[in-house]
Amino acid sequence: MSKKGQIVAALLAPHPPHIVYAENPPQNEPTAECGWEVLRWGYERLRRDLEAVDYDTIVILSPHWQTYIGTHFLGVEHFKSLSVDPIFPNLFRFHYDLHVDVDLAESIEAEARSAGLVTKMMRNPDFRVDYGTIVSCHMTRPEWDKPIVGISSNRSEAFYNPEVMQEQAIALGRATRDAIERSGKRVLLISSNSLSHRHFTTESDVPEDMSNEHITNHHQYLWDMQAIEMLRNGRTREFIDIMPEFTEHAVGETDSGALSWLISALDFPSYNAELYAYGTVIGTGNAVIGWFPTVEVN
Ligand SMILES: [Fe+2]
Repeated sequence: MSKKGQIVAALLAPHPPHIVYAENPPQNEPTAECGWEVLRWGYERLRRDLEAVDYDTIVILSPHWQTYIGTHFLGVEHFKSLSVDPIFPNLFRFHYDLHVDVDLAESIEAEARSAGLVTKMMRNPDFRVDYGTIVSCHMTRPEWDKPIVGISSNRSEAFYNPEVMQEQAIALGRATRDAIERSGKRVLLISSNSLSHRHFTTESDVPEDMSNEHITNHHQYLWDMQAIEMLRNGRTREFIDIMPEFTEHAVGETDSGALSWLISALDFPSYNAELYAYGTVIGTGNAVIGWFPTVEVN
């Protein structure tokens, strides 16, 4: 019998394009002087820790690939194009070149379908991969040498309510875990989202001018701190319980279902997570958090 696959690490890895802009990678056209260092240094420490973790594939759910009928999966082996952030084209014009683990994508899709979810493999070779996927993957693994599985955010929160969304995200998380275990692969899971997500409506002349960067309001900050304390201290079931309220009050990007999916795929971890950073980007609250499950493989 082949080896059982496992989730070897899982991340809350938010995707403000500003942090890629401030990193000045060769793939991005605009250049920055500096900016958002706390978050970027947090990602740096995360990458250092990930060097000790051996994994085959990155599986990521992004809030910016929005699908209204079911959950979709990238189903083409290679994508290469230019990604331009629709709100911040001045910060993010990124030339991406990425590979997809289509086998694993198909396995997760089939597992989710048999669990009763509406699903679809995305087979359009000209599809433009969303910037959430690109930013989180780049900050986690700038070498771009691991294939990814891209999963869309089914907007059932907008269609129905946060409870329906979360129920479906939890079912998708279970299906993801089952398919990974059957695949024999070692997988890094990424939930690509901010926590509180109310942002400024104007930008300063110098986007990386950090004298203008702060949380939008104290109310959002209090929600972020509560969420982080739960997530880092193994109170993930409690977080899932308050998630609908958090999403509504903090205008959370958790409306995407990404974090509920990740927590479910990890089977509601009660162990501590590593908090790498918390920082604001145009007023939104962003935490970089890592879970390192120890799974026995025989
Ligand atoms: Fe976003």
